[in-house]
Amino acid sequence: MKRSFLTFCITALCVSAYCQSTNTENVYTINAGKIKAHVQPTMYGIFFEDINMGADGGVYAELVKNRSFEFKEPLMAWDEIKQDGANGSILILNRGAANPDNPRFIHITSNSTKGYGLSNEGFFGMGIKKNNQYNFSVLAKQAGGVKITLQIELINSKKEVIGSTSVTPASKEWRKYTASFIATETEPKASLRVLLKGTGSVDLDMISLFPQDTWKQRPGGLRADLVQKLADMKPGFLRFPGGCIVEGRELDTRYQWKRTIGDIANRRMIMNRWNTEFAHRPAPDYYQTFGLGFLEYFEIAEDIGASPLPIINCGMACQFNTCELVPVSQLGPYVQDALDLIEFANGSVNTKWGKKRAELGHPAPFNLNMLGVGNEQWGEQYIERYKIFEKAIHAKYPQIKLVSSLGPFPGGDIFNSANQTFRKLGASILDEHYYASPKWFLQNVKRYDNYDRNGPKIFAGEYAAQSKVTGSPDNKNNWECAMAEAAFMTGLERNADVVSMASYAPLFANVEGWQWTPDLIWFDNLRSYGTPNYYVQQLYSLNKGTDVVPLTLNNEAVTGQNGCFATAALDANTRELIIKIVNTGKDEQKSDFAVSGAKTGSVCNWTVLQSDDLNGVNSLDKPLAISPQKSEVAVDGGHIKLSLKPYSFNVIRVKIDK
Ligand code: AHR
Repeated sequence: MKRSFLTFCITALCVSAYCQSTNTENVYTINAGKIKAHVQPTMYGIFFEDINMGADGGVYAELVKNRSFEFKEPLMAWDEIKQDGANGSILILNRGAANPDNPRFIHITSNSTKGYGLSNEGFFGMGIKKNNQYNFSVLAKQAGGVKITLQIELINSKKEVIGSTSVTPASKEWRKYTASFIATETEPKASLRVLLKGTGSVDLDMISLFPQDTWKQRPGGLRADLVQKLADMKPGFLRFPGGCIVEGRELDTRYQWKRTIGDIANRRMIMNRWNTEFAHRPAPDYYQTFGLGFLEYFEIAEDIGASPLPIINCGMACQFNTCELVPVSQLGPYVQDALDLIEFANGSVNTKWGKKRAELGHPAPFNLNMLGVGNEQWGEQYIERYKIFEKAIHAKYPQIKLVSSLGPFPGGDIFNSANQTFRKLGASILDEHYYASPKWFLQNVKRYDNYDRNGPKIFAGEYAAQSKVTGSPDNKNNWECAMAEAAFMTGLERNADVVSMASYAPLFANVEGWQWTPDLIWFDNLRSYGTPNYYVQQLYSLNKGTDVVPLTLNNEAVTGQNGCFATAALDANTRELIIKIVNTGKDEQKSDFAVSGAKTGSVCNWTVLQSDDLNGVNSLDKPLAISPQKSEVAVDGGHIKLSLKPYSFNVIRVKIDK
């Protein structure tokens, strides 16, 4: 009863909006019986890179910055605390070769009982939630005659204690100690104090604080609100760990997956390459602890139902930076890393790396079937190295599909030369990147219409419309950019026989710690929001369907006529037709979708993402300013009549007959 009344009201509203529109009606024809292309389950996915404090200071929920004193400045993020005039001293000791992955620790001596110690500032403070449990841990050993107790306190911005506990290291040998407590207040910018109670000395390392409410409550895990945003996209794949992070500014700082698994105290930390990349956005305290490492990446992919797509270094550092190369004669260890990675992901527990995976708690394989060789590489040095990887990987794992880079630009000499070469080599998947103006996205909606249907598949591996220009700190995640991406993506979907994967980039940005904008999801210590671009990606992913069918206006695909861009797909699982249409114009568009097979009297779901303001954005305070709005419309004699709002992205789902 309720539903039909609602339907009646909404239909009446839609019809009246339709009647008020003044322009002429466009009649779109959809032949739901003619399948043009199959949409890959992987079609819309996620590109993850630790940029903009996306991992450390972001989704990795560790609240203590520089927990092991391995930053270049060993006491960065730490302050000495002298409570009530207490005094003492601090030494940074280096074990060197005795512990090469984590050489430094801190030796603290307290000379009074009043409370001498350290305070950690966190990542722009620590986000603390009232009544949540916080789990403290530390590697410690007593280093003097008298046993020292450590008083642990969370401090709010008013310098009040909002949670505390204590631990007493029992031994003169290194041991891990843990203690938990409940926070009494919510505070976005807390700090953590570690005070010595008593006089004497103690050695400390890996001083850590995590919330209990991590994603799936995993100890030492990930921020649940941020991973939930990824899960809500139902992504087809997860590309990780980047991005230029894979390459490093120089080879020394390239991503080495074997250093990112196992005990976190032994994951060798390095400076994040985005630390120094942009002079206008310096990030001197940006490091990679690898607390979010390769096991965790595989696990998130599994959790959210995404195919894992790791990208490995191919013996080349970032070509925008040093372009440092490994001589081909010394490429062996790099290739071995790739082979071992496949074994780590898929191998039986009787293999060396499959056994390692099982020891780390995941005996079941991760079903890896794609691997990227190099990130954004180009030139003959890349081809030369790629061929070596390809030969070795396919000799052992012929079923693994390799992703080959076509470089950083969507056209030009670098692109053309790589494109020709990889096609000749019979490559499986070509990775194209485009960071360009909204206009470029609209003009390139037919980009894939004439691609070879029998050639390699295309992975639109990194793309985002730039409101100013690539690299500008003034780029915004505004509606104009999101709408242009939505329009462009109709072209990806119409060509789903060629384009098998696509991902917006970059993914995450800390509102206080970003280097690169625009980004899909922004967050501070307690909150996060999806940009309009996020909702575009999400709508595509949740409505991708299984098979593309023709949607035409006057027998032509809809690629900008009257400012509209459209595509249609069937969902064979739900027996629905899904229409996506973007009206990029400033006027309403009267539209009639003539759908073969749509039942008269049935109701379709109409989701609209829209803003009258092309500069409109979402924010932490107004996270849903531009977000999907749902309504229903009746089908009338096989026709769906809608008035498309100006500047709108519309997704229409309708049940169809067999
Ligand atoms: O997404 C940001 C950067 O853009 C990536 O790290 C790199 O691959 C591209 O140049």
